[in-house]
Amino acid sequence: MSANAQLQRRPDESALWASQKAFDVERVRADFPILNERVHGRALVYLDNAATTQKPEAVIEAINHYYRHDNANIHRGVHLLSQRATDAYESARAAVQRFLNAQSSSEIVFVRGATEAINLVAQTYGRSHIVSGDEVLITAMEHHSNIVPWQILCEEKGAKLRVAPVNDRGELLLEKLEELLSSRTKIVSIAHVSNALGTVNPIRQIVRLAHSRGIPVIVDGAQAAPHLPIDVQDLDCDFYAFSGHKIYGPTGIGVLYGKAELLEEMPPFQGGGDMISSVTFEKTTYNKVPHKFEAGTPDISGVIGLGAAIAYIDNLGKASIAEHEDELLSYATAQLEKIPGIRLVGTAREKVGALSFVMEGVHPHDIGTILDQEGIAVRTGHHCAQPIMDRFGIPATVRASFGLYNTKAEIDSLAAGIEKVKEILV
Ligand SMILES: Cc1ncc(COP(=O)(O)O)c(C=O)c1O
Repeated sequence: MSANAQLQRRPDESALWASQKAFDVERVRADFPILNERVHGRALVYLDNAATTQKPEAVIEAINHYYRHDNANIHRGVHLLSQRATDAYESARAAVQRFLNAQSSSEIVFVRGATEAINLVAQTYGRSHIVSGDEVLITAMEHHSNIVPWQILCEEKGAKLRVAPVNDRGELLLEKLEELLSSRTKIVSIAHVSNALGTVNPIRQIVRLAHSRGIPVIVDGAQAAPHLPIDVQDLDCDFYAFSGHKIYGPTGIGVLYGKAELLEEMPPFQGGGDMISSVTFEKTTYNKVPHKFEAGTPDISGVIGLGAAIAYIDNLGKASIAEHEDELLSYATAQLEKIPGIRLVGTAREKVGALSFVMEGVHPHDIGTILDQEGIAVRTGHHCAQPIMDRFGIPATVRASFGLYNTKAEIDSLAAGIEKVKEILV
């Protein structure tokens, strides 16, 4: 359209055009080849995005291109392919730095995923700071990845794991969390967003409470990174962890952000190539951060794929994605609330991404199996968050979780699928 025609458009038309341009879900869907798959003869309705997201052509192509044209080991070679691979790898680090608004790219450590990031902090920072009688504070809504690494550490050190409770909506009880902070607390580790409930935790407030007592905070951002703009400087958290595969990137790659002064002071996680500055049998000195924490040949293609995923998200705009997904979540909540016999689990006022529910008299697994026959992929079970299931007195839920390519029509399919479950089983 010519600039002149744009000028002549009425304001209401322009607004519509602008919002369509901002987020055209059908165009977005065309970027994801897997969305054309048929499941049991039906169009795929993929609502298991909290487990892992699908990959756009741009990510698949970036990995393909790397193996076809640039494959070489990084940081060590003088030859051209090694330089190209190194440039691509380090450019992805710079992209992650911008994605998190970290102060420096040296604060970005590539790991296998959120799980490894949390284990890294527990085994390095935790191991060197926590002694018998100390405490680690988490919350009742954590994923097992943010429980077990701390249990292992606490067992080894004779320290204690403390757990901040939630209310019946699945919201953190901040005043209880504050009461649990003491001179014995050596670290707070908390999900930004709960994978089982979708609750968004008030990280800035929690960081302020912890920092006022000199306690560092690690944020498990696995479920926040796909949905919320993340600004680690604004949050002021000390560490932030997320997984590439939940933000439309490949599996096997993730990120640990750490404040430079903390990373520098921490001992290494694993020993091997690339993490050293010099090695003799008498003594080894370590490389500077972040390389000190990236022992051995890393997942180069995974990092490049992650960089492509971030470029893809940036191109759509995180604010537009968030707006689209908020609409989906509100719509899905309204649709499911209308169905008699369905109870939502997790009704926090601040939520993103996921909708967990149970149906009176029907096991979640049976719901998932019938939905699958309809081509609808949801998650059923405890979602690697057994303690929060216990808190709600249930063994499992059905979880529908949304991504940037989902549509209201797909939510209608989910609601119709649930009605079908009722016809068959209730
Ligand atoms: C809140 C949360 N934390 C951590 C993880 C672990 O992520 P990964 O398995 O990619 O390491 C997940 C995965 O579902 C999660 O939802």
